[in-house]
Amino acid sequence: MPMITFDGHDYDCHQGETILESLTRHGVLVPSACGQGVCQTCLTKAVKGKPPVESQKGLKDTLAAQGYFLTCICKPEEDMELAIADVSKGSVGITVIEKQMLNESVMRLRFQCDEKIEYFAGQFVNLKHPDTDLVRSYSLASLPEDASLELHVKRVPDGQMSGFLHETLQVGGRLSLDGPAGDCFYTERDLDQSLLMVGVGTGLAPLYGIVRDALQHGHRGDIHLFHASLAKQGLYYVDALNALAKQHENVHYIPCVLHGDVPEGGQQGDIQQLVQAAVPQLAGWRIYVCGDPEIVNGLKQTCFMAGASMSDIYTDPFV
Ligand SMILES: Cc1cc2nc3c(=O)[nH]c(=O)nc-3n(C[C@H](O)[C@H](O)[C@H](O)COP(=O)(O)OP(=O)(O)OC[C@H]3O[C@@H](n4cnc5c(N)ncnc54)[C@H](O)[C@@H]3O)c2cc1C
Ligand code: FES
Repeated sequence: MPMITFDGHDYDCHQGETILESLTRHGVLVPSACGQGVCQTCLTKAVKGKPPVESQKGLKDTLAAQGYFLTCICKPEEDMELAIADVSKGSVGITVIEKQMLNESVMRLRFQCDEKIEYFAGQFVNLKHPDTDLVRSYSLASLPEDASLELHVKRVPDGQMSGFLHETLQVGGRLSLDGPAGDCFYTERDLDQSLLMVGVGTGLAPLYGIVRDALQHGHRGDIHLFHASLAKQGLYYVDALNALAKQHENVHYIPCVLHGDVPEGGQQGDIQQLVQAAVPQLAGWRIYVCGDPEIVNGLKQTCFMAGASMSDIYTDPFV
C-alpha cells in the first residue's frame, strides 16, 4: 500500500484510491473542484516518487517534467511526498460590475479585474468563493482585449457556487479567480479549415468567444455554430448570433431544441443526430464542443467516427 507524505505526516492510500480520496478520508483538506482531471485546481507537485503518467493528463510538458500532477486522478504506484503546487501566478481579485439574466436560468456576469489577465478566448477560470474554500470553473465568453471578463452562469438547483453568484453576490461584490486554464481555443494555423462548434446550454459561453476570435483572426473557412438546449427558453444570444451570421457569410448559426417551439432558422431533435445529419463528413474539420459532459463525450465519438482527427477535436466537458 503506497504511503503519501504531506505536510510532515504520512497517510496510507488504498488500492485503487486516488491521492485526493486518501487525503480526504484522513480529514486533510486540499484544494479541488471538478474531481475529474479537468479544472487543475488540485495541481500538486511530487517532491519524491514518480506520479503515474495518467495523473499528468492535460498538463504542459514543462509542468509534467517537474513532477506536477493532479491528485484527483492520481492512483499512486509507489510512495510519494507532496507539496501543494505554487505555479499559478497567484489569485487575481475581481469586482462584479454587471449581473444580467440572459434567459430564465442563465446569468451573464461581468467582472473588472484588479490586474489584467492574459487568456485565449474560450479558456476557463476557477472562481473562488470569498468566504469558503469552494472553487468552481467557468468559461470566458469575453475576448482578451475586452475591458471586463464575461461569464455565463447557469443556476443549478441546490448548487453552492451558482446559487452564491446568482443570489448573494451583488454588483460591487468582490471575489477572486485562478487561471486561465484549458486548451479549448482558436489558433490561426489554417484560416481555410471548416470549423464545427457545438455548445450545450452555457457551453455557448466559450464558443461565443472562440467564434469572434476566429473571425478577428480573419478565418475564411465555414463556421457552423450549433447551440443546443432542451427548449427554446434555454437558448440565449439568438439575436447577437443571427447578427454575426448576417455580417459574415461563412458563419452558420443553428439554434437547436430537443422539445417544443423551434426558433427561426433552428432545428428540433437530438443534438448528436442533428449535427450528424448536417455535417456527415468531418475529415479535415476542426471541432469545438462544450457543455454537458455526456453530450460532449458522445459528440466527440460521433465526430471522430465522421472522420475528424482526434487532434482536431477540442472539448470542455462542464463536469
Ligand atoms: C472546464 C469547465 C468549465 C465550466 N464552465 C461553465 C460555464 O461557463 N457556465 C456554467 O454555468 N457552468 C460551467 N461549469 C460548471 C461549473 O463549474 C459548476 O460545476 C456548476 O456551476 C455547478 O456548481 P455549483 O457549486 O453551483 O453546484 P454544486 O454545489 O457543485 O452542485 C451541483 C449539483 O450537484 C448536486 N450535488 C452536490 N453535491 C451532491 C452530493 N454530495 N450528492 C448528490 N448531489 C449533489 C447539487 O444538488 C447540485 O444540483 C464548468 C465546468 C468546467 C469543469
Ligand atoms: S479537482 Fe482535480 S482537476 Fe479538477
